[in-house]
Amino acid sequence: MRLYTVLLKNTKKIEYYSRFSPSPLSIKQFLEFGRDNACEKTSFMFLRKELPVRLANTMREVNLLPDNLLSQPSIKLVQKWYMQSFVELLGYENRKPEDPQALNDFLELLIEIRNRHNDVVPTMAQGVIEYKEKFGFDPFVSSNIQYFLDRFYTNRISFRMLINQHTLLFGNDTNPAHPKHIGSIDPTCSVAEVVKDAYETAKMLCEQYYLAAPALQIQEFNMKQDKDKSIQAVYVPSHLFHMLFELFKNSMRASVELHEDSKEGLPPVKAKVTLGKEDLSIKISDRGGGVPLRKIDRLFNYMYSTAPTPSLEPSSTVPLAGFGYGLPISRLYARYFQGDLKLYSMEGVGTDAVIYLKALSSESFERLPVFNKSAWRHYQTSPEADDWSNPSKEPRDTSKSNYKANR
Ligand SMILES: Nc1ncnc2c1ncn2[C@@H]1O[C@H](COP(=O)(O)OP(=O)(O)O)[C@@H](O)[C@H]1O
Ligand SMILES: [Mg+2]
Repeated sequence: MRLYTVLLKNTKKIEYYSRFSPSPLSIKQFLEFGRDNACEKTSFMFLRKELPVRLANTMREVNLLPDNLLSQPSIKLVQKWYMQSFVELLGYENRKPEDPQALNDFLELLIEIRNRHNDVVPTMAQGVIEYKEKFGFDPFVSSNIQYFLDRFYTNRISFRMLINQHTLLFGNDTNPAHPKHIGSIDPTCSVAEVVKDAYETAKMLCEQYYLAAPALQIQEFNMKQDKDKSIQAVYVPSHLFHMLFELFKNSMRASVELHEDSKEGLPPVKAKVTLGKEDLSIKISDRGGGVPLRKIDRLFNYMYSTAPTPSLEPSSTVPLAGFGYGLPISRLYARYFQGDLKLYSMEGVGTDAVIYLKALSSESFERLPVFNKSAWRHYQTSPEADDWSNPSKEPRDTSKSNYKANR
């Protein structure tokens, strides 16, 4: 009886909080709040509502997934983590911001929650694999899972952003190496430096495995600030690093695998950093043989990505490649602050991957999923018949560069 009452109470609370839409913040707002004598009480009062709102919005959406998926043990585990964090946050609904103990406890709770949710992405991926092994691949379910995971992981990125800002500004884990950072934001982030960092880290992995790695060439075009000045962004360097690291790993792997035996040596990977009025763009170009257009969309698809890798496949041991989430998650990071990530490939030759960021921090608003009627409708619509003609079979795949058989 008691358990039932508690469950009912929590369900009601989720419903209550999910009726609020998340409040998106811009990088400029994060910065201004953190810079001007950041007030811990204000942050506490904002987060004790905003975090449950963001959690509740995504928890309602989880429940719309097909039952067969929800019943997978990994998905249940993730749901348990979300419920526990939600309930623990509710414990602060009535605590007084003037009470230093409450502020301390809250800070510790945020760190605990962050740790609890560390493995959400691989655990969800595991759930999708479990589902697919049991029930096979269904294009309708796959498109729902794609829609869901993009939103769910974006929610998670945002949730961690909020937690990190609070713990970095008010906790003991401030980073002495970066005194100018405001929480996780670098107000004068040298983009080329992050490019070099990400390149060097990927290069180390690449050399470990292949004993060689392509060189890097960087070019900058600063069309907005001083033309000779290196381009600076107001951005979260760890997000930028994440995206660039994934792109470099992909480019290096493709380059080395294609040119391993060639006499001319490895073609360099080129990075172009540009700043215009509206966009800050970073292009990573390789000569790794590219991907056929037909397959480009799939590279961002979680259901394709998590196809269990056949054990015979050599790529399953390549440290440069993971379980296929590099591109989709990187794109979410780019989109999170109103940017994007696109791949332009010319099959047989190579790939250009472009990260677009907003040049202005006042335009870099969080892009957040909202649980509402139209989101709900997404999960209900039944699959429609294709209204374009379809060749009965996919063309036979003979390209050397498509080393991942399941794509
Ligand atoms: N620059 C590139 N050149 C050729 N193929 C690429 C490139 N980038 C990505 N790919 C293909 O896209 C796939 C998915 O990339 P990603 O999402 O990073 O996952 P993973 O690297 O873990 O497989 C890669 O396995 C590869 O087949
Ligand atoms: Mg990758």
